[in-house]
Amino acid sequence: MRNFDQNSITQAVLERVAGASDPRVRQISEALVRHLHDFIREVRPTQAEWEKGIAFLTDTGHMCSDTRQEFILLSDTLGVSMLVDAINHDHQTAVTESTVLGPFYVEGPPEVACGTDISGDLAGEPMYVSGTVATADGTPLANAIVDVWHSDEDGYYDVQHTGEEAGLVARARLRSDDQGRFHFWSIRPAAYPIPHDGPVGKMLEAQGRHPWRPAHVHFMIAAPGHEKLVTHVFVAGDRYLDSDAVFGVKDSLIRDFTAHPAGTAPDGRAMDRPYCALTYDFRLNPVSEAASQAA
Ligand code: BEZ
Ligand code: FE
Repeated sequence: MRNFDQNSITQAVLERVAGASDPRVRQISEALVRHLHDFIREVRPTQAEWEKGIAFLTDTGHMCSDTRQEFILLSDTLGVSMLVDAINHDHQTAVTESTVLGPFYVEGPPEVACGTDISGDLAGEPMYVSGTVATADGTPLANAIVDVWHSDEDGYYDVQHTGEEAGLVARARLRSDDQGRFHFWSIRPAAYPIPHDGPVGKMLEAQGRHPWRPAHVHFMIAAPGHEKLVTHVFVAGDRYLDSDAVFGVKDSLIRDFTAHPAGTAPDGRAMDRPYCALTYDFRLNPVSEAASQAA
């Protein structure tokens, strides 16, 4: 095979990948070639534009490290992460919706008892968070692992304060009690821009987009026999709810962070200043028969 033109080259590459022994590799390779070639035929890049595209991908790779995943950020900002999420969590009306994980999760967060204030020395409006973990039909799930993390009042996560003594704050691992309940104290999170000092930031700028995410608290919840839930709860009224840089907002995940005056809080704590309160009842999807057999 030789002397390919703008159209015949696609068929030639398709024939070359048709020998893949794994049918899924073959399917993915064929779709990749078809869509990529159609994209190039539609865009008709100049040689210089092709070089710029390669340089963008190269820079994206160079930006990656143990603590920075620029390719996931690219996937997030192009809506691909939430598209994959939508495909894999279709028709799950009875359970809590999921959203992006984001880059600020830390494996093995500090384990704390319910009621702990996880904000360390951070300044900010106190926030009381309470909720429950249950099965799809509402049966409480005891001893579920509830990981939480969120930004501070300036929109930064603890792990972004490199070189400082802050340590891990505004993040923790709790366990639900025998009625599926959990609660903790922290400070109210703020909206923040996703990391935009790399190629993805340049892309957003070139596309005329802002890098902001609406304020939210992250939750990752795990219980035996159930799919791990990765989600956030967003602050109602945030100005970025309709323009989240990573398309992660769902109506079912928005809650009022209600204002409370100083006084006795729901867990009996005497509060000498006003605080806000968030409550959310999470429902987990049972692991499907097929998935549990495959595991
Ligand atoms: C986050 O919510 O932490 C996040 C999600 C996607 C990209 C950047 C940050
Ligand atoms: Fe976040």
